[in-house]
Amino acid sequence: MRVAILGTGYVGLTTGVCLAYLGHSVVCVDPVVEKIDSLRHGSIPIFEPGLEELLREASQRMGFTTNPAEAIPEAEVVVICVGTPVQADGTPDLSQLRSASESLGRHMGLHFTVVVNKSTVPIGSSNWVEALVCAAFEESHDEKAEARFAVASNPEFLREGSAVADSLYPDRIVLGTEDLRALEILCALYRPLIDQDFPAPAFCPRPPGVTAIPFVSTDLPSAELIKYAANAFLALKISFINEIGLLAQRVGADVGEIARGIGLDSRIGRQFLQAGLGWGGSCFAKDTSTLITTAAEYGLSLPIVGAAREVNQRLRARVLERLLDELKILKGKRIGLLGLAFKPNTDDLRDAPAIDIAKRLSLHGALVVAHDPVAMPRFQREQAGLPVALLDSPEGVFQRADAVVLVTEWQTYLDLTWEALQPVMRNPLLVDGRNVLDKQRLVAAGYRHVGIP
Ligand code: UGA
Repeated sequence: MRVAILGTGYVGLTTGVCLAYLGHSVVCVDPVVEKIDSLRHGSIPIFEPGLEELLREASQRMGFTTNPAEAIPEAEVVVICVGTPVQADGTPDLSQLRSASESLGRHMGLHFTVVVNKSTVPIGSSNWVEALVCAAFEESHDEKAEARFAVASNPEFLREGSAVADSLYPDRIVLGTEDLRALEILCALYRPLIDQDFPAPAFCPRPPGVTAIPFVSTDLPSAELIKYAANAFLALKISFINEIGLLAQRVGADVGEIARGIGLDSRIGRQFLQAGLGWGGSCFAKDTSTLITTAAEYGLSLPIVGAAREVNQRLRARVLERLLDELKILKGKRIGLLGLAFKPNTDDLRDAPAIDIAKRLSLHGALVVAHDPVAMPRFQREQAGLPVALLDSPEGVFQRADAVVLVTEWQTYLDLTWEALQPVMRNPLLVDGRNVLDKQRLVAAGYRHVGIP
């Protein structure tokens, strides 16, 4: 099948490469010339494990262009994957969605085209996309757009850092459309995924037990709301365990043990109960905020979602509170941060707790040093004004430090020889922002270990 993808961020690029790997003919469109140039040379402009390897395997069926006219007219399916960043008032900026829809309408061929919306958009946006495509088509073709295209919502559930595995072996595929023809075409598009009959790439093997992927076919607004409900639920699961973690800390209980104890109940489940600094990234904050503003438009408040956000916000101050408790004065103290990215295996710094922590520490006069295995170049570009000294090695972070904070649980940090690093610190205080380190081992090595929350 011929597919055009509009937007080459995490979602667009991963979707395009995976569809090409599954045998479809894919052209990705993005207005940023440097991005397209680098993709044409086989180089991925983001850090996403496995994506470059997959692109190499699928490259014969992939094209990249800045010109929508080279991709849209031939496509049977056009997937919109443009960004919808949150604005200061909590609502998403839909300008990229508008221009993608208009461009789609202008360039759409005369055959039946399925317009798939994968961008996370407020409920009802698919109807808006439909109206924009329709108007642009009729203006440029001088023909009725009726029955020439149908819009479907196909929310994405991939996580950064494991985007390839999440796309090839998803927990489910959700499709919202009221058009039977579109549904048939999209079923055919996803057939290899649904049946799991494609050869798994050597570097991303099929997990044991994955034989077929559940397919949820529903109406447009339900598909759109499924995306928000999923992210909001995951966000509140994390905030819930962190709220319990705050109480656990007061009463001397271990939040890790609590997560294990409740997570083994299959009704609760073990995932997304890792207590610590809370959630960051481009999705949870944006989507919970949009959900709340959307509900408000319909005269509803969502107190549970609001509380999840509030708890997460409180956690941002927690590292500072813990350091003040321990060190009393931060002025002139050297504080080391291990990790800058919002989670491991990505260089994404959007809403990363590390940025918040560094700002708060600097305001208190601390000298902040940091390391990240992949996010430092991006940090230098995006956070140039922040007084953080970036170091070449994680070991350097411990040198003469008054405290070290584990912010992002990169494997390379978990594998450090912690015993050898304690003596080089001025004060062996370790704040485990993700509750992933072996407390007993660290205490035996002479550290003072403090967990978050
Ligand atoms: C999230 C969802 O998990 C995806 O299903 C969804 O497709 C994506 O948003 C999106 O809407 O595009 P992502 O933000 O990439 O994915 O990463 P997650 O693995 O969900 O982590 C989000 C944040 O929660 C990270 O800061 C992580 O450190 C934190 N987290 C996660 C915890 O603090 N505890 C946990 O137990 C799990």
